[in-house]
Amino acid sequence: MAVRNGSDPSALYARTINPQFVRMLRVLGFDRTWVRGGNEYLYDSAGERFLDLLGGFGMYALGRNDPGIRAALVEALERETPGSLQLGVSELPGLLAQELLARAPASLGRVLFTSSGTESVEAALKISRAATGRSRVLSAEDAFHGLTLGSLSANGCEDFTGPFGPLLPGFDRVPFNDLDALERALQGEDVALFLVEPVQGKGVHLPDRGYLEGAQELCRRYGTLFGVDEVQTGFGRTGTLFASEHWGLEPDVMPVAKALSGGYVPSGACLFRAKVFDRVFDSMEHAVRHGSTFAPNDLAMAAGLATLRELDERRLVERSRVLGERLLELTRPLEERYEVVADVRGLGMMWAIEFSEPKHGRTSWRLLEKTQPGLFAQLVIGPLFHEHRILTQVAGHKLNVLKILPPFTIAEAEIERFAEALDTVIAHAARIPSAFAKTALRASAHLLR
Ligand SMILES: Cc1ncc(COP(=O)(O)O)c(C=O)c1O
Repeated sequence: MAVRNGSDPSALYARTINPQFVRMLRVLGFDRTWVRGGNEYLYDSAGERFLDLLGGFGMYALGRNDPGIRAALVEALERETPGSLQLGVSELPGLLAQELLARAPASLGRVLFTSSGTESVEAALKISRAATGRSRVLSAEDAFHGLTLGSLSANGCEDFTGPFGPLLPGFDRVPFNDLDALERALQGEDVALFLVEPVQGKGVHLPDRGYLEGAQELCRRYGTLFGVDEVQTGFGRTGTLFASEHWGLEPDVMPVAKALSGGYVPSGACLFRAKVFDRVFDSMEHAVRHGSTFAPNDLAMAAGLATLRELDERRLVERSRVLGERLLELTRPLEERYEVVADVRGLGMMWAIEFSEPKHGRTSWRLLEKTQPGLFAQLVIGPLFHEHRILTQVAGHKLNVLKILPPFTIAEAEIERFAEALDTVIAHAARIPSAFAKTALRASAHLLR
């Protein structure tokens, strides 16, 4: 590539973008130079191959560099499509909107394109306020909806809000899976939107039976719009095209993003009930009340159309469901095998394992937790990466939860290899304190400094 100048990418990144991020990678030993990606694999400059189960935080539902999507992008470039007209319309946005609406819950009738998940959430917040004439917004505790000021106000997670306050007024949170608390919060009939992830990304928490259906019913009763944030769960992640399908939900508002473009092009959308959207865009004068220069753009639209086509033709949503079941079948026995494994849970290709204090080895566990909450999960993630060449993540700040979001195109044998590697690594990590734990303690001390 013409831009390559032979300098060390980490040093360049540290000098020009974010030195602390590079330091953190170094401490974790994750400071590889990545040179190529292909489906479920990443390759470093030493030619080593890693299994990527983090999937770019879920955007590589079809793996990295899917050839079908690439071909669609090349075709769009070669056709010299008009690009964004701003004062005019071209073909591709309407086509993708039509395909999205054909697959989304029947309640939804309009699509507003964006370039990311957080922008889709911002659109949900703004349009909901304007459509209802109410200003309050409710979300669930421990939710994650993005990091711009509006979506951050809905997160409310201290690890992210830190020095960025004050957050927007009118935002409150209720515990996830608590319908009584939700009803109490809605009773004042002043809430514009209740926004909820069908499966919470932070910690991978599944809804209790009846929770989401009950939340929808309460929203209807109190005149609040029901928003289902499908940014992470959308496009097959949980084994149905949208997670809403598991519970037959009919949202009024539905932000999506991540896998929409197969990870190639920044892309997102917020889908609305037509009546809600039309209340805000209600006259020619109000035709451009919300939008963004880059959205919709033709490359994102072409990639989106190709993603939906690939999901359909290769039956990848079904594959996400089947592989998810296989993964649970392989990993649930770990709950019995190790005291330190508190729970294994997942839906489709969204999976997590949670660790908690074991009966035997309490002192070591507490020592680790005191040093840094969530350190045990790091004890697992580190060796998975270094010894087994498998990339995974912790499911949120200070959580002892390891999470994966694999592509649906992953080979079944690689799911099996992950389950075996996990078993081996937990067996070692559960024997703390060992040389292993000491290494982690050293690393965390380093991080804290
Ligand atoms: C449920 C949910 N909503 C919103 C977002 C924000 O998306 P983005 O990172 O594209 O801004 C995320 C990102 O992880 C998410 O998981």
